[in-house]
This record gives sequence, structure tokens and C-alpha cells, in this order.
Amino acid sequence: MVASNRGQKALRRESPTEDDVAAPRALSVTQLRLPLPSGPALLPPRIARYLATAALPSPCLVVDLSVVERQYVDLARAFPAARVFYAVKANPDDAILSALTKLGSCFDAASIGEIDMCLKHDVGPHRISYGNTIKKQSDIAAAYARGVRLFAFDCIGELEKLAVAAQGSKVFCRVLTPNEGAEWPLSRKFGCEPAMGIDLLVRARQLGLDPYGISFHVGSQQLDPSQFDVAIATTADMFRKLGARGVDLRMVNVGGGFPSRYLRDVPPIEDYATAIDASLRKHFPNGAPEVIVEPGRYIVGDAGVLQAEVVLVADKGGSDHRPWVYLDVGKFHGLAETMDEAIKYRIVTARDGDEKVPVILAGPTCDSADTLYEKSICRLPVTLKPGDKVWILSTGAYTTTYSSIAFNGMPPLASVCI
Ligand SMILES: Cc1ncc(COP(=O)(O)O)c(C=O)c1O
Repeated sequence: MVASNRGQKALRRESPTEDDVAAPRALSVTQLRLPLPSGPALLPPRIARYLATAALPSPCLVVDLSVVERQYVDLARAFPAARVFYAVKANPDDAILSALTKLGSCFDAASIGEIDMCLKHDVGPHRISYGNTIKKQSDIAAAYARGVRLFAFDCIGELEKLAVAAQGSKVFCRVLTPNEGAEWPLSRKFGCEPAMGIDLLVRARQLGLDPYGISFHVGSQQLDPSQFDVAIATTADMFRKLGARGVDLRMVNVGGGFPSRYLRDVPPIEDYATAIDASLRKHFPNGAPEVIVEPGRYIVGDAGVLQAEVVLVADKGGSDHRPWVYLDVGKFHGLAETMDEAIKYRIVTARDGDEKVPVILAGPTCDSADTLYEKSICRLPVTLKPGDKVWILSTGAYTTTYSSIAFNGMPPLASVCI
């Protein structure tokens, strides 16, 4: 069944990643040659077979559940001593939550809505972490009433809410860590300075909570596995200092950051596991604490292909000779991570055998922010024309939930799991 998803999460804005724009080659729309259709050979075979016969609305995300399952199994195997909490926000599709539940995953939820999505499946509340550091007290109480006993915080205000609404629960403090190397950094919005985190964890115990551990996030789409070492070193130092104050923590939550494969090659999951394991051994010489990993993008990103359509190819004149290619999908239909051109998706067309030229790629809405790639180099076939299908790869994460409800009267991104 094809489902529509409502936008559930505010857009995240971070510092730009700007590639130089190559000197554009002259191209006039009137010069476009007639299409020479060929098969989309670069699509994952199972999705390609499905798309060959399926009648789908456009745009539509297709997620291959067998890839989701494989990614989960590969990650769980790479981190044999860790508990895996899938970050539901990456893609909360029921079929994905159901598959991961059966594989034994736990879940990192950002809201009561996500907690309820998990509870609909056979997930006991003990398998859910309320990992958002920004929660209404009424939502904390609602989660507690549903049996959730694991909560994140990063400031005294949040800790005091937890003390009122989630007495006795395990709490973990999120600390700030550099996000260098991440294509989608998570900035200073989350986490506190380690020295403050120590005081807060001491306070947590005084307030009747269970100071359980420390979490961090090295930034999403983190391409440098060694970045975890800085955060783990900080965490170990906090463990020691808290131990000296009589608070013995038991858990380190290393967050997410494990990448999908967009334009650039990425290190395999084993490289992250090896780096994290080595770092834990180095900084916790007397034995590592319990470890939690919270993958989102890695589990679902590469499992998705977004099928969309070219609406218009336009030559605008002036000194920039690149044509504008407008798709029926844009920033407001789920491709929000193209903000500041941060995430660079691979795009496949049936005309990829034809000459490719630099283009400016944009979405269909009447908002100039709905431009996907203008500073970065984006090359598409010179023969592309309205009505042609395009396939945007590795779009299984952070797309459906970002889609607006009806911006410009256009429906939210449809999705189907196969
Ligand atoms: C608390 C938390 N955990 C895990 C994740 C998942 O991160 P990623 O998709 O990079 O694996 C996120 C993403 O925003 C997050 O906020």
C-alpha cells in the first residue's frame, strides 16, 4: 500500500557545504536532442523490478525492506556487545518498525508520537528510549505512564521536569562534542558542556532519578570514524570524575552518525565498530560500560529510491548557461537535507548514456528556497525532458517525515515498502 506521510519535524539548518561550480557549458533547451530511452541499470535490482510494473503516484519513495533488515543485521553484528536503538525519526514507516521489532531492535523515540508508533508493534516500553532532550513535562508524564523508563536530558530545566514526571527513571546526559567530518552536523542545539554534565548527573541522583550514563552524537553522515574517539575520551573522563563523587555510571550511548552512500564512498560499518571498540578499550581500561548505538540513516538510507519526474527544463539566459531542471519533488517533499546542499544524492535517469551537462536542480514549488543544487555540481543528461522519470538513490532516511502536508497544494511524499 502506498502511504502518505505528514511533515513531523522542523527543518534543520547547518553551515553550508559549498563545492565550486564548474564553469558551465553552453546549453540551450532548444538544442536538446530527442531522448534515447534505456534501462535504469544503476537502480538496486529488487526496486528496479518492482518499479518496472508498479503504478505509483509521483513522486514516491520505494523502500526495500530486505535492505533495511540486512543493514540492521550487519550493524548488530559489527557491534556485538551493544544494544541497538533504531532512531525512529529516520523513517517511522510501520513496515520498517515491524521488521526491526522482529529482529530485536530497541527504539530511540523523539516524541510521544514516535513512542506510540513503536508501542503499536510488539515492543515493550523497556525497549524504548525517549532520547529527545527537549520534551514537554506532560509528554514525559505520558511516556512514563506508558512504561518508558529511559530518558535523555542536557540541562537542569529538563532534569527537573524528569524528576517530577518520571521519578526513579534511568536518565542519561547528552554532552556536546565536535561534529567535524559530518555532512549533516547536529550543532550546539543538543548537549551540555561536560563539566556541567557532571554536576547535572550528581543532581539527578539527589532528585530521585537513576543517573545511568552519557550520550553524544558525532553528527549525522559522519565520514570519519575516528571522530568517536574525542567523545569517548570525554565520556570516560566524566565517568571517572563522577565515580570520585560517588556516582557510578553504567552506560555510554554513542549515538548515530553511521553513513549512507550518497555521491561519495563511505567507510564500511566495520570501520566505525573497530574505531569505537578501540577507543572504549583505550579510555575504559578496566572494562567498557554498557554501550548503546542509535543508528538511523545507516539502517534505512540506502534502502530507499525516490522515483520522481521532470516537470520542466528551462534555459534562463544570462551569464549562467546552465539549464534549470525542475522536478516534481523538492525540499518541501522530503529532500530537506539538500538544505545548504549538505546531502548530495545520486540521481539516475534512463538517459544516463547520453552526454551530461551541469544543471541547476530545483523542486516544483513557488519558493526559491526550493532549489536543490545550484552551488554544487549536478550533471544530468542533456536530453532530459519533461515527463522523464528520475530516480534519487539512498533516500530512505529523513525524507518522508520532512515532507510538508500540502505546500502549494501538493500532496506529501508518498512511500511504499516492498
Ligand atoms: C538522539 C539521536 N540519536 C540518533 C540519531 C540518528 O542519527 P543518524 O541518522 O546519523 O544515525 C539522531 C539523529 O538526529 C538523534 O537525534
